[in-house]
Amino acid sequence: MELTVRRLRIDLEAPFARRWNGGDAFRTAWFNALSMSFPVGEQFFIDALRGALKALPEGERERWSAEVQGFVGQEATHRRIHALFNAQLEAQGHRNTWAPRSLARIRRLDGLDPRHAVAATAATEHITAVLADWMLAHPEALADAEPRLQTLWLWHAAEESEHRSTAFDVYRALGGNELWRCRYMRLVTFHFLADVFRQTLRNLHHDGALWQWRTWRSGATFLFGRAGLLRQARRPWRAYFAAGFHPRRQDDAAGARWLREHGEVFAVVPR
Ligand SMILES: [Fe+2]
Ligand SMILES: [Fe+2]
Repeated sequence: MELTVRRLRIDLEAPFARRWNGGDAFRTAWFNALSMSFPVGEQFFIDALRGALKALPEGERERWSAEVQGFVGQEATHRRIHALFNAQLEAQGHRNTWAPRSLARIRRLDGLDPRHAVAATAATEHITAVLADWMLAHPEALADAEPRLQTLWLWHAAEESEHRSTAFDVYRALGGNELWRCRYMRLVTFHFLADVFRQTLRNLHHDGALWQWRTWRSGATFLFGRAGLLRQARRPWRAYFAAGFHPRRQDDAAGARWLREHGEVFAVVPR
């Protein structure tokens, strides 16, 4: 499929409030944690798919090269913008301990068959797409955040929804099997959940909100309430383990609609 690279027209040099997400400590700490993982994670996806492209037989390389280029362009744009976002968090005194942990894990894949990195990428991209779909369906997760920050998160979500199948298809083109595809999903999910909670707790501690009742009431609703993220994400996440699963079978209409309706907030980068 054709992947458009878009440059966001928002200013992230200007500082934002410590509790930028509607004054809500939990929701702010959670999204901050996610952002802290992006630059390292997205560089890993880029490297994994570039490496995979080189390892593909010639016909397959031709078939996937344009889509991988679009994928790389999108993730590179996300990386740059979240690095600016993270610089603001650093200026607020936050410490990112997730990025070094994931870098250490990524290094363990060095020198292995490229299918390992691509399987890890495909699994993470599925988790990302599930989170993205949830966010697009629940814009109240960003209620009362500044418009530029809502735009940042929903644009990223929409593009994650859009390029959800690239790593998966490249994994298949490399001859990756189902056993390792599912193994990596278990591994990646375990690390993702452990890391996002650790970093969220650290962020809450820095914010002085860790021991406040209000924080955890909001956290419980956000994650486990009827419309909560973890409660609603479980089913689409599990679909990955089904034989014959393909990311394109999941509904990506919300992301496509968002991109259609928000053309004024980005510029399309020419090929
Ligand atoms: Fe991304
Ligand atoms: Fe992605």
